Amino acid sequence: MVRDIKNAPDGSIFLFHACAHNPTGVDPTPEQWREIEAVVKAKGHFAFFDMAYQGFASGDIHKDAFAVRHFVSQGHNVCLAQSFAKNMGLYGERIGAFSQVCADADEAKRVDSQIKILVRPMYSNPPIHGARIAAEILNTPELYDQWLVEVKEMADRIITMRALLKENLEKLGSKHDWSHITSQIGMFAYTGLSPEQMEALAKEHSVYATRDGRISVAGITSENVGRLAEAIFKVKG
Ligand SMILES: Cc1ncc(COP(=O)(O)O)c(C=O)c1O
Repeated sequence: MVRDIKNAPDGSIFLFHACAHNPTGVDPTPEQWREIEAVVKAKGHFAFFDMAYQGFASGDIHKDAFAVRHFVSQGHNVCLAQSFAKNMGLYGERIGAFSQVCADADEAKRVDSQIKILVRPMYSNPPIHGARIAAEILNTPELYDQWLVEVKEMADRIITMRALLKENLEKLGSKHDWSHITSQIGMFAYTGLSPEQMEALAKEHSVYATRDGRISVAGITSENVGRLAEAIFKVKG
């Protein structure tokens, strides 16, 4: 990744997933983010952050914001697209936030008018219901504290489901190395199953996921993890 960033023409725009990378579940470490930031700066590149899972990686919204905050602290005027669909459970409300760090108030004014030019023909007025829910949570201290606890609960549940899936596969006698299931983070896991094996999962076991072998860990529960492990074991061994 660093080699590609170095080889790109100066002044390129790079889109980074801030945390819980979709679909791989593999994030750079803070040290690796520092290295990435240094190369982005040296090349005069522009960083655009896509942050759809703040809190889902570590359970801590501040830890998960490391990459964005590090870039800003190093003087990058980043662009940030945030979604609250997952971390507030507001799927279908189309709620997120778009932020652009600017050099000064004058640049902010110009950026603002450019964004309005883009927004007006695209959707004109954004849906407001989800925005009001998100604003109420973020601006009410008791609700905000409760939300932090609930985000951690969601992240911890996903981490537990990963461990349970691996444990169940091993108990069934699978000799494959399933450590990637627990080392990956966030909502998704690459199982390593082939497209044919994914088809067999759907046809023979009614387990549906994408052909690239990616499963949604959020869909696993303590009730269905045994059946899922059995289906994967029967298909892959
Ligand atoms: C990295 C990333 N960004 C954005 C989105 C979409 O967010 P929204 O549904 O709020 O548009 C997703 C997944 O749905 C995602 O994985």
